[in-house]
Amino acid sequence: MQRENWGSRVGFILAAVGSAIGLGNIWRFPYMAYDNGGGAFLIPYFFALVTAGIPILIMEFSMGHKMKGGAPLTMAKLNRKWEWLGWWQILISFIITVYYVVVISWAINYVGFSMTLAWGNETISFFTGDYLGLTGGPFEFGGFQLTILITTISAWVINFIVIYSGVKSGIERANKIFIPVLIVILLIILLRGITLPGAAEGLNMLFQPDFSKIADGKVWVAAYGQIFFSLSIAFAIMITYSSYLPKKSDIVNNAFITGFINCGFSVLAGIAIFSILGFMIHQSGGELPAKLSGVFLAFATIPEAINELPAFQKTIGVLFFISLTFAGLSSFISINEAAIAGITEKLYKPRKKVAAWYTLIAMIISLIFTTGSGLYILDIVDHFINSFGVAMSGLVEVILIGWFFKTKILKDHFQPISDFKVGIWWDIAIKVITPAALGITAIMNFANEFS
Ligand code: PHE
Ligand code: NA
Repeated sequence: MQRENWGSRVGFILAAVGSAIGLGNIWRFPYMAYDNGGGAFLIPYFFALVTAGIPILIMEFSMGHKMKGGAPLTMAKLNRKWEWLGWWQILISFIITVYYVVVISWAINYVGFSMTLAWGNETISFFTGDYLGLTGGPFEFGGFQLTILITTISAWVINFIVIYSGVKSGIERANKIFIPVLIVILLIILLRGITLPGAAEGLNMLFQPDFSKIADGKVWVAAYGQIFFSLSIAFAIMITYSSYLPKKSDIVNNAFITGFINCGFSVLAGIAIFSILGFMIHQSGGELPAKLSGVFLAFATIPEAINELPAFQKTIGVLFFISLTFAGLSSFISINEAAIAGITEKLYKPRKKVAAWYTLIAMIISLIFTTGSGLYILDIVDHFINSFGVAMSGLVEVILIGWFFKTKILKDHFQPISDFKVGIWWDIAIKVITPAALGITAIMNFANEFS
């Protein structure tokens, strides 16, 4: 079967950026920067971007592009014994996808709630109680659970239609809508945010540099972890997406563009979120809102801030939750494409059939997270994936490829087709810096867990 290609370079970049920009850019990065040295966090963050993020994007792009396979097939073509690594990455992505989709369904529901500010004044208790029905048992259906269930199924249906339609007319086309809209919305919210009273205080909180933090290993671990999660590397995704690149593709340039757009988005999202938090402090007379990150930032604190806005509350609410939905969907689709491509190539079955079965099975599993204890399970799974899954699969990948594979083969592949020639920097990043950073991450996470 002929392997499908992206219709254009822009199409590929939008899809890669679509995978990268996700919930993590909006609700994880801003707080992480604030909590890990403020403005000073940008130093380890950009260091991680150039020593791990971009070099590994170059590595994964050239692996997929050269081998023309999803992650398992690509790994197998590098070395027959490495196919399992591709499957492991797909497994981790699969664990993410079954809860990620439920958060997307919340975001979709909150687009609706924004229209009437349905969350009322007590946004936390609305979210956990009225909406999620968290007090109920695992299989108790209360609150909005039926709504959540239906929306989750809808997200799977959207995903299925996009993947069923193919790489070019499905994934590329969807991202050509999602990403431009997402960026425009971010800019609107950013403008609204920075023109609010108190915005400066918020930005001070975010950027006030605490340089002493740079000596703290934990801050570096956070930076490397965030770069991996955020750029969707070591998740089988970037390998799969780059396998659809046409013969002549500037690998190095694509990696730089993807890396910088993603991290630029994160910083702008940080500015938007913290100006809004600054505004809240201004309104409430100096008190920091309780929840500054994760699910509660998005579904409790932001709605609380929206309540306080002087005008256009509903519009800003709708825009914010649409942006969360689009950021989520484009990442969600990328995860599922990586899995479906891998399975299709393994079973030699028609892609559309695999997509249907995969969607059905994954959808059923994801329904666990729509129950009354969904958020608890989600927290636990998310914690383990972030502490172990990502760093470990990245670590194994760079060790295998950096040390047990002639990286020159990859370099000889991407150098001639790329305008910008990379030097020894790339080799050092792949072979030394990234394995060291991820090795330390793994040890620190283990120590944390069992101390
Ligand atoms: N990169 C996405 C984010 O920052 C998350 C993601 C992780 C997407 C893994 C796909 C795979 O939210
Ligand atoms: Na995305």
